[in-house]
Amino acid sequence: MTHAVPSLTQTYAQRFAPHLAAAEGFLNQLLPSQDPKVLWDAMRHGVLSGGKRIRAVMVLETCLACGGTQQQALGAAAALELIHCYSLIHDDLPCIDNDDLRRGKPTVHKAFGEDMAVLAGDALLAMAFFVLTDHTQDVPDKTLLNVVSHLSRSASVFGLVNGQVDDIQYANHPPSEALLKQIHQGKTGALFRFATWSGATLAGQPAPVADALSQFGQLLGVAFQIVDDLLDVNAEAATLGKTPGKDATQGKMTYPAVYGIEGSQKQLQQTLESLDAILNRLPADIDRDGLRFLVQFVKEREF
Ligand code: IPE
Ligand code: IPE
Ligand code: MG
Ligand code: MG
Ligand code: MG
Repeated sequence: MTHAVPSLTQTYAQRFAPHLAAAEGFLNQLLPSQDPKVLWDAMRHGVLSGGKRIRAVMVLETCLACGGTQQQALGAAAALELIHCYSLIHDDLPCIDNDDLRRGKPTVHKAFGEDMAVLAGDALLAMAFFVLTDHTQDVPDKTLLNVVSHLSRSASVFGLVNGQVDDIQYANHPPSEALLKQIHQGKTGALFRFATWSGATLAGQPAPVADALSQFGQLLGVAFQIVDDLLDVNAEAATLGKTPGKDATQGKMTYPAVYGIEGSQKQLQQTLESLDAILNRLPADIDRDGLRFLVQFVKEREF
């Protein structure tokens, strides 16, 4: 069944309007409808169908908060969204989570077939790297090279893919707090970590500041995935834009599976407090307002 595309909450859309407009505009420009049309249209469907763009917003917001510019961060922001969207296309495949609905629309394999879904994902992953190198402005080559290396690691067996493997392997496994953390840090934390680390690094911040923001991003990713797990239990498809209840059906090791609903909310609260503590320790010249807003958004999001 197809549902209406969920709209962003007013406040998030308003607070980050310039970031959202820049990211959306740039992604549109990168993905024209051209030959081979079936592939490009599958890529467009996987990217331009109404994501929240939180990872792009994190790169842009962190870079600006650290004294950088939109030009320095937009290439990395778009590259990260391309990788995120590829990961969703593959995550939804019948051989992984087997989902029919994403962002209120049929998943890419439902609309274009499994062959094109696999290839659209491959194409988006590869594309991310030339988008990053060709569209980053006003950043020294050495810094950009470091960012490329980190993006590759974050998407790799040292990050996202490893988390996805754990997510699959530990389905129907006895509950384990340590394994749960490992899954969430990999499958969601790794890209979130790159988002804030790259924003700080592209702005020219020294390693200790980038590392603190990296820790912030990683933990925000865990919070984001705790909420995702809770929404899978509590939300309706019409609001969520995805089919709820899938995690339990597939025996996934989620926060509710390990801690229960109330326990998960407690874990979330503790994570939010740790996030606040990291922000409080940042140097005084870094503007934390937008980052605080992001924490609030992660806590309150409904899809
Ligand atoms: C979904 O990510 C996958 C998770 C890591 C939970 P998002 O909730 O950021 O997906 P979109 O891009 O906004 O649709
Ligand atoms: C997704 O986790 C993490 C990815 C790397 C794609 P989920 O499988 O929980 O994400 P949804 O619920 O399908 O969006
Ligand atoms: Mg999954
Ligand atoms: Mg999934
Ligand atoms: Mg989920």
